[in-house]
Amino acid sequence: MTAGAAPEAAPLAERAAAVLCDTYRRVPLTLVRGQGARVWSDDGQELLDCVAGIAVNVLGHGHPAVLAALQEQAGALIHTSNLYYTLPQVALAERLVATAFPARVFFSNSGAEANEAAIKVARKWGQRHRGGAATIVALQGAFHGRTLGTLAAGGQSHYSDAFRPLPGGFRHVAPGDLPALEAALDQAAVAVLLEPIQGEGGVHPLDDAYLAAVRRLCDERQCLLLLDEVQTGMGRTGRMWAHQHAGIVPDVLTCAKGLGGGVPIGATLVGPRADVLEPGDHGSTFGGNPLACAAALAVLRTIEAEGLVERAAAVGARLRQGLEELVTPDGPVVEVRGRGLMLGVGLDRPWAPALADAARAVGLLVNPVGERTLRLLPPLILSEQEADLATARLATAVAAVAAAPPAP
Ligand SMILES: Cc1ncc(COP(=O)(O)O)c(C=O)c1O
Repeated sequence: MTAGAAPEAAPLAERAAAVLCDTYRRVPLTLVRGQGARVWSDDGQELLDCVAGIAVNVLGHGHPAVLAALQEQAGALIHTSNLYYTLPQVALAERLVATAFPARVFFSNSGAEANEAAIKVARKWGQRHRGGAATIVALQGAFHGRTLGTLAAGGQSHYSDAFRPLPGGFRHVAPGDLPALEAALDQAAVAVLLEPIQGEGGVHPLDDAYLAAVRRLCDERQCLLLLDEVQTGMGRTGRMWAHQHAGIVPDVLTCAKGLGGGVPIGATLVGPRADVLEPGDHGSTFGGNPLACAAALAVLRTIEAEGLVERAAAVGARLRQGLEELVTPDGPVVEVRGRGLMLGVGLDRPWAPALADAARAVGLLVNPVGERTLRLLPPLILSEQEADLATARLATAVAAVAAAPPAP
């Protein structure tokens, strides 16, 4: 920036570097507007948004139901604290529970917080019912958030190594390895925590049969099953909750991301077996605030009214089919993983960042996870035509990168 010039005159990336902590690897793109499944940059580029705020904007951008709910609630009451009852919070809990299983809900503001509440439930349950058993068994490759507790629960040390010491009481086993899980569920173990599809870990689904076996094992060993559906929830996989594909019911379910359709909110659903929380055990100033709850209620109502869970299954199948046509024996695309509108394009070489850049250049937002997976998490309102457009644009990006491969 030139000395004496107003900061507003400098490029945004330069201003950001001066005042924002350097925690994100941002791409050089400034978004200014969104409508449906499209977003626009400050220089006027229109992009098809297959990232949706990382599985957040389930109704796309600017959905009238969310806008109306926010406007109405903001005019009535934005915030009260949890010292008092509010209508939207109770109505949202009722509606959320109706989509899942009998439970009571603790509201927070993010996925990590929803998981922290689940961890606290398990620990208290262990004190009360299992003689102080406290170890939570989680999966290698898992991602549960960025607080110290959820970093300890996560199974990717590159997120947590710089922040040791982490809270203790977590143990990790390989996803899908039942004998390893059986061995880990000893007297000290109180719960299993897992994502039905590992998202940040690279879009790796767990088998329904494995999930059913984990449920049985938790029952046999008197452990709780805690499911992190922060990314898989809200209809994304073609069922309201991904665990419903496996016909199981967890003891605790966490959700966030898509719940508020872009407004921050997290929720921990605690089933009757695990329901040990009492006044004073947990809290959050903003958790379940009326504005966020009104938005989330609008999201749930719209998902139901517009049949968006079924649509995620149908449009997801079409998108998957299109992406599978990009698979060739000599790569770079070698497989498509995931379920519904949570899809991972697996690569045989470390081209994911270059492919995401090339896709952006032709008007498609996708998210590289690691170097060998492109993740697609479009809004549930994506049309079939938009799914086809996403495939076509990704095909163009693949051709462009193949013609000028990134330096190794
Ligand atoms: C499965 C899962 N759990 C938890 C989180 C953390 O959510 P938040 O970033 O809202 O804290 C994420 C975020 O990516 C996630 O994918």
